[in-house]
Amino acid sequence: MSKIISVISGKGGVGKTTLVSNLGSALTKHGKSVVVIDGNVTTPNLSLHLGIPFYPVTLHDALRNNMPIESAVYNHHSGMRVIPASLSIDSMEGIDLDRMDEAISGLIGSADIVIIDSAAGLGKEAMAAMNAADDLLIVTNPDLPSVTDALKTIKIAQNSRKNVMGVVVNRVRGLKHEMSIEEIKMMLEVPIVSLVPEDLSVPKSIARKVPVVHHKPKSKSSVEFQKLALKIMGEPWRKIEKRAWWERLFFWTD
Ligand SMILES: Nc1ncnc2c1ncn2[C@@H]1O[C@H](COP(=O)(O)OP(=O)(O)OP(=O)(O)O)[C@@H](O)[C@H]1O
Ligand SMILES: [Mg+2]
Repeated sequence: MSKIISVISGKGGVGKTTLVSNLGSALTKHGKSVVVIDGNVTTPNLSLHLGIPFYPVTLHDALRNNMPIESAVYNHHSGMRVIPASLSIDSMEGIDLDRMDEAISGLIGSADIVIIDSAAGLGKEAMAAMNAADDLLIVTNPDLPSVTDALKTIKIAQNSRKNVMGVVVNRVRGLKHEMSIEEIKMMLEVPIVSLVPEDLSVPKSIARKVPVVHHKPKSKSSVEFQKLALKIMGEPWRKIEKRAWWERLFFWTD
């Protein structure tokens, strides 16, 4: 049975796509079979984070009901599989967001874990990604606007009887003006499953089009993404084996 997780936030730009590419990579490194899906159909970014922007068949084709979702699955060199969304501005024509749930359910049994990157906001697109999953990870930054939007998202999820696995607080710098973890916990009333620090390795890795868990496996953010992967797997912390020299060469990572 596959676990289908949607990564949602309410507020835009808080780190959903970063989480999807890195959590997917970390789970794969730990031996899970993973499919990551770019469920952000209007402003897709996941394939840009992964360095493979052009595909002949995408999620859009599956949402147009003219392709089975399996034909939009591609192997990424990290070992995970990816279902990209089309970057073309014409691609929205004829797509039916209500089909997302049914299309993605076509993957059940073909992977241990399916992770959906959702659009920002609480519009139809984000709701389609929420409905397609059983479990949700909510991403926020430690500031009031992000946490307020996360709260709205959590309320909608709970009303829809979705399982909120927890909140990932991303870009934590530990500065005085930030909301404290206690304040966030009190406001959201769901477990905080990960605190990902502000880390320059993240934008650098995006520029290199390689998830940070590959680009800088020992960076502060990478360690947190790997801890979260193990938490989701229900396993205690363990280090990932160091890559072989030829793998490091292939990924252009240290
Ligand atoms: N832990 C981090 N440290 C530093 N920068 C980060 C971190 N996480 C994300 N960022 C930066 O924040 C920006 C937004 O990240 P990302 O695209 O993952 O957000 P998003 O929630 O998917 O955005 P959108 O709502 O537009 O889809 C990126 O430029 C990324 O480099
Ligand atoms: Mg995104």
